[in-house]
Amino acid sequence: MSRSPRAFVMGHPIKHSRSPMLHGYWLDHYGIEGSYEMLDIAPEALAGFFASYRETGWIGGNVTVPHKSAVMPFLDRIDPAAEAMGAVNTVYWDGDVLAGDNTDALGFMHNLDDRAPGWQTGASRAVVLGAGGAARAAAYGLMSRGLDVAIVNRTEAKAQALAQHLGRGVSSHSLDALSSLLGEADLLVNATSLGMVHQPPLQIDLSPLKAGATVCDVVYVPLETDLLRSAKARGHRTVDGLGMLLHQAVVGFSRWFGVTPEVTGELRTLLEEDIRAKSPGA
Ligand code: ATR
Repeated sequence: MSRSPRAFVMGHPIKHSRSPMLHGYWLDHYGIEGSYEMLDIAPEALAGFFASYRETGWIGGNVTVPHKSAVMPFLDRIDPAAEAMGAVNTVYWDGDVLAGDNTDALGFMHNLDDRAPGWQTGASRAVVLGAGGAARAAAYGLMSRGLDVAIVNRTEAKAQALAQHLGRGVSSHSLDALSSLLGEADLLVNATSLGMVHQPPLQIDLSPLKAGATVCDVVYVPLETDLLRSAKARGHRTVDGLGMLLHQAVVGFSRWFGVTPEVTGELRTLLEEDIRAKSPGA
C-alpha cells in the first residue's frame, strides 16, 4: 500500500513558521492527498533525523533557521544556488539522489517581477542593505539578472565577505557610503531585520534616492514597514516581503507534489490576515 507523500518544514524553534499554512492551502486547493508537517529539530537531533530519512519516507521539505547550512553534509548533492548562498532551504529527491536547493533568490526575484512589473527596464544598479541570509538571497538573485549590486552593512567586514563570495558585479560598502550609492540606485532593498516588529526601525534618508527607483523590503511583519511608507510618500514604487515567502515555496511544492502551484490573491490575503491577527497594527 503506498503512503501519501509527506513533506516537512524543520527548524528550531519552528512554531511561528507560516509555511504550513501556505503549503496546506495548496494541498487543499489542488486536492492532493499529502501532508506538510512542522518539525522542531534541535541541532543535536539533525544527524538522527537524516539517519532515518529514507525509512521515514519523507519526499522532502523546507529547512529554516538554524539548520540552513548544517544540513548540507547530510545531502548527496547541493544545487548551484544553494552552493552560492551557502545555505539550503529546500530538500528533495532527484531520482535516488537527496538534493538541496535554495529557492530564496528565485522567490525574491519573482516577487519583484510580480509586484513591480517592468522594474528592471533600464535598471542596472541595486543597493542591498544587510549581509545576512536574506541579503545573500537578494544579492545573488539580482547579480544573476545582471545588475551591479552594492552591499551596505553596519558591519562592513560581513558585507566584504559576502561580496567576495558572490564575485563579479557585487561590491561592499559601509553605511557612510549609502547616501552617494542611493543617487545611482534603480532598486533599494532592505534585507536587514530593521523595521520588523520588536526590532528598531530602519532610519535612512531617502532624499538622495534616484527618482524612479523601486524600493523593496524583505520584512513582512508589518506588511508596510516605515521604509515602504516613506518611499511610497516620495513617489517610489514599493514591494513588500510577503511575496518572497510565497514565491520561494512554489519550487519546493512542485518538486514534492508534482504540481506547480499558483500564488493567488486569495493565498496572499490568507497570509495577510494571519499576520494582522497575530501582530495587531501590522
Ligand atoms: P537574516 O539571515 O534574516 O538576514 P541576520 O543574518 O541576523 O538575519 O542578518 C541581519 C542583518 O541585519 C545584518 O546585516 C545586520 O547587520 P550586522 O551584520 O552589522 O549585524 C543587520 N542589522 C541588525 N540589526 C541592526 C542594527 N541595529 N543596525 C544596522 N544593521 C542591523
